Amino acid sequence: MKLRTKLSIAFFSVIIFPPILIFLATTTRIFKHSIPAYNTFALNGNAYMSLFFALILTGIMVTVWLYHSMISPIKQLTEATRKIAEGDLDFQVELPNGDDEIAALCSNFEEMRKRLQKSAAETMENESENRTLISNITHDLKTPVTSIKGYAEGLLDGVADTPEKRDKYIQTIYNKANDMDRLINELTFYAGIDTNRIPYNFTRIDVSDYFGDCVDEIQVDLESHGISLSYENALKSGVRIIADPEQFKKVINNIIGNSIKYMDKKGGKLSIRLKDAESAVIIEIEDNGKGIAKKDLPYIFDRFYRTDSSRNSSRGGSGIGLSIVKKIVEDHGGRVWAESDLGSGTTILMEFRKYKEK
Ligand SMILES: Nc1ncnc2c1ncn2[C@@H]1O[C@H](COP(=O)(O)OP(=O)(O)OP(=O)(O)O)[C@@H](O)[C@H]1O
Ligand SMILES: [Mg+2]
Repeated sequence: MKLRTKLSIAFFSVIIFPPILIFLATTTRIFKHSIPAYNTFALNGNAYMSLFFALILTGIMVTVWLYHSMISPIKQLTEATRKIAEGDLDFQVELPNGDDEIAALCSNFEEMRKRLQKSAAETMENESENRTLISNITHDLKTPVTSIKGYAEGLLDGVADTPEKRDKYIQTIYNKANDMDRLINELTFYAGIDTNRIPYNFTRIDVSDYFGDCVDEIQVDLESHGISLSYENALKSGVRIIADPEQFKKVINNIIGNSIKYMDKKGGKLSIRLKDAESAVIIEIEDNGKGIAKKDLPYIFDRFYRTDSSRNSSRGGSGIGLSIVKKIVEDHGGRVWAESDLGSGTTILMEFRKYKEK
């Protein structure tokens, strides 16, 4: 019942009930035994006294009714606001029966409390992730810093006593500094996308054209690592997807970077395959590197996850490359997964919806 209806009922009750009660008291004498005064006064024609009792009775009834429907929910809301002000969000606002404005207010308030509770939980989770991030940055930056210090000391102490040795030491320092640079860039980038600070520049890209250009670039990099590339494109011409070309490049670079990093064979091979799957495009990037154990496969896209073998190897990274891949692919509405055989190689597969002109 709407508040307006309740107030109207209360108003009419105050107007209508007293005359009815007076009428009953004076004509049928129903209060004769229970309230003798009533009877006496009514018989004496003392309508004022009858009116007084009738008004009190009506007033009590109306007050009790309004109190239950309005004051107790408002009291509850007052208590709830106090709790929220104190930072306590773990309670529940009881929703009163009915569909009046107070019930709507309580329901909206409860909705607000739930959202605040959710966002508080998310903030706490982000804070804990940030703490993990900081501890991992510290950990991962330690490795190249230690090397740089070691090699610089070698130069200062004269341990590098031949020009070749000195060149090697300087080159190593340079490489380690590059590692640090890359690591810091990756972490900054990741912290950025996690809080949605990096805006995506989505556009329609022609998949075949895009990969055609990519393959040329990748080929140079792979060749310098002694890895041969094969490229198969089974897509019809003009197949497009909605993507941010810059971010998409990060996805490919991370995947191929892993293939290079975890290549353990002399005749390294990498295959890129584009396949048609009706309304979607499947991209497969396969290498014949060291592969990933079955037990590790479900976790490789988790942030900071590294398999034991890569943790123990000097080539192991910080374990965030594939989590960046996953984040970007999912922000593109796609999905990414991996198939692998330990010892024989890994395939990273991605699926994106085709863009269809309306
Ligand atoms: N192509 C691959 N071959 C073998 N193992 C792989 C391959 N790609 C990923 N992995 C395994 O998955 C783990 C997670 O990969 P991810 O790219 O997230 O981290 P990373 O390469 O260790 O570090 P980062 O990419 O941050 O430098 C790696 O540590 C590695 O063990
Ligand atoms: Mg990686």
